[in-house]
Amino acid sequence: MGAWTPTRLMALKGKQKIACVAAYDYAMARVLDEAGIHLILVGDSLAMTVLGHQTTLPVTMEDMLRHTAAVARGARNALVVADMPFLSYQVSEEQALMNAGRFIKEAGAGAVKIEGGAARASTVRRLVENGIPVLGHIGLMPQSIRATGGYRVQGRSSGEVQRLVADARALEKAGVFAVVVECVPAAAGARITRSVKIPTIGIGAGPSCDGQILVAHDMLGLYSDVTPHFARRYADLGAKMKQAFAEYRKDVETGRFPGPENVY
Ligand code: KIV
Repeated sequence: MGAWTPTRLMALKGKQKIACVAAYDYAMARVLDEAGIHLILVGDSLAMTVLGHQTTLPVTMEDMLRHTAAVARGARNALVVADMPFLSYQVSEEQALMNAGRFIKEAGAGAVKIEGGAARASTVRRLVENGIPVLGHIGLMPQSIRATGGYRVQGRSSGEVQRLVADARALEKAGVFAVVVECVPAAAGARITRSVKIPTIGIGAGPSCDGQILVAHDMLGLYSDVTPHFARRYADLGAKMKQAFAEYRKDVETGRFPGPENVY
């Protein structure tokens, strides 16, 4: 089948839904790739799921570069997208270009993601003109929670939906190959999807989006006991891991491990 590129993913709009997962390491990337996932996002959500922070804000360029490189080493066909961390692209377009370039040059990413609508269009254009594919992100933007007052569903009023449509169109015009739409009512997700020619990738944005993205740790029960409303838990690996580690502890305590087969 060959590797997924931004151009190939764009061509899927209206023909085939796009399955995307946020993940952060080599082992998970290999499994996702073998499962045929189209796009792996090295999300800044790693600040929370892997590093244990309360928000995505503290994650650094160095954290993101290290994890993107690990995912890129594990993904053969999936498009690897690096999420640009808070303040790595907002200060100036020059800095945005330098930092985005590092994800491509040093970490092996195929594209980067930045949060923001029309206000980021000029930055997107600058990156795209310099050969860096960009995935947009509108709706709930976790890097802006200090300004917006928390994790709230966006696009509840017709005015907000109009603004989201304008944001999606501005990003499309600036050259993004697709746009993540986070936490909006299903009707708003459908409206945005109809309004642009690029694929929309929904997370809590309803079934009409051209693709879906979930965080691997939410899907597998690895982060919290509570599954977010918009996510689906496909396996409870957290419980399985706890059972396995407890069994190992008992085996060590009782001398059942190591067994004769484990000894040189
Ligand atoms: O950081 C992340 O994982 C994301 C996805 C939830 C879209 O931005």
